[in-house]
Amino acid sequence: MSANFDIDFTVEPSPPLSGTFDVPGDKSISHRAVMLGALAEGVTEISGLLEGEDVLATMAAMRAMGVEVEGPSEGKVRIHGVGLKGLSAPEGPLDMGNSGTAMRLLCGLLAGQDFATELVGDESLMRRPMERVATPLRDMGANVETRDGKPPVKIGPARDGLSPAVHHLPVASAQLKSALLLAGLYAKGETRVFEPAVTRDHTERMLQGFGCHLHRGDDWVSLSGGQVLKATRVEVPGDISSAAFFLVGAAMRPGSHVVVEGVGVNPTRTGILNVLEAMGAPVRRFNERVVAGEPVADLEVTGSRLRGIDIPVDWVPLAIDEFPAICIAAACAEGDTTVRGAAELRVKESDRIAAMANGLKRLGIDVAEFDDGMTVRGGRLQGGEVDSRSDHRVAMAFAVAGGAATAAVRVRDCRNVATSFPDFVTKARSAGLRIEEVLHAGSQ
Ligand code: S3P
Repeated sequence: MSANFDIDFTVEPSPPLSGTFDVPGDKSISHRAVMLGALAEGVTEISGLLEGEDVLATMAAMRAMGVEVEGPSEGKVRIHGVGLKGLSAPEGPLDMGNSGTAMRLLCGLLAGQDFATELVGDESLMRRPMERVATPLRDMGANVETRDGKPPVKIGPARDGLSPAVHHLPVASAQLKSALLLAGLYAKGETRVFEPAVTRDHTERMLQGFGCHLHRGDDWVSLSGGQVLKATRVEVPGDISSAAFFLVGAAMRPGSHVVVEGVGVNPTRTGILNVLEAMGAPVRRFNERVVAGEPVADLEVTGSRLRGIDIPVDWVPLAIDEFPAICIAAACAEGDTTVRGAAELRVKESDRIAAMANGLKRLGIDVAEFDDGMTVRGGRLQGGEVDSRSDHRVAMAFAVAGGAATAAVRVRDCRNVATSFPDFVTKARSAGLRIEEVLHAGSQ
């Protein structure tokens, strides 16, 4: 989504973080709730939905295909499901904004429709790899075209309908797995997906919540096509990927104490908790419960002097969106922190390895960059100006860094924070971060 203004954050050195608060709904779960609600029969009621731009793009796409969506109003949405075959052709291309999740999951869902669609996005999304989803969909008979592997993605009706397939994913990607499962709903037979490492399983859990039968092994999941999804209630937990900025911001500074309430702690997402614990700042979980098939807890962290670690490679997919925040923790730790096996970070909303390495260097931290990761040498964060590359998580990570730096930090191009955490600045201020927004004419 383009705009003719942009926002920088300026952050002054701040006291250690403190407070008890919640964070907006989980982005991954919100997208899935809207999509599955649309494909279900009956009215799905969602609460706690993330009202960020990414999820609004998914809602707009569903409306454009004839789905009545009431809301969002304070996180509540009612979706009048049209059934698996009830979507209708949109009038123009579907604009997924900044959202890779929306675009990739929709590729799978749209591959099963009997009308043509075209998916486009903002500058960042138009650069992201889509062949990884198009290729396996073609193996199911889908009619999907990319432009040099990237959007726009054009999807036509599959000539002979979709056939089931056994997929062995070349990358650990929940988006890819989810797209193939959604396409599998339209295939005549059983679709099976093997993944090279465990990735977030919100699609599997939510499909089951909508009454879909699926089978799961340690590294695979399968489902049969043609199953009817039945409308349900979905209560979306707080997003651990948003909570991460406060967990890290508190963990890395002695004197901090933060409680984040109602956070999703699905074990496929809690790599950040493993990392903080290994660095010397265990996060206490309490009020543990299960809500709409997803584990939820309140999280408490007390600041301490962190130590650098080698992050085990099997934690990478479990913390994939938290690396910008983890880099800031590493910068404040004693010793080196290394992540390898994380080449996927180069194809997120920005090249997060380059974005974090450049920004940290500008703030006086030594960083060695590798194709598939980096080593951050703990030191003392200085003031300075960093470029978020319009990446929401890079922007929030450097905002938190600013509070712990010796002088003010200016973070450029933070508008996309609205994609995942619209009230970040308010929450950050309530936790004690001295953050201001500076509006200026934008580049788009
Ligand atoms: C997501 C999966 C991850 C993650 C993204 C959300 C999802 O992407 O980085 O923010 O909701 O399935 P990949 O599947 O590309 O790893």
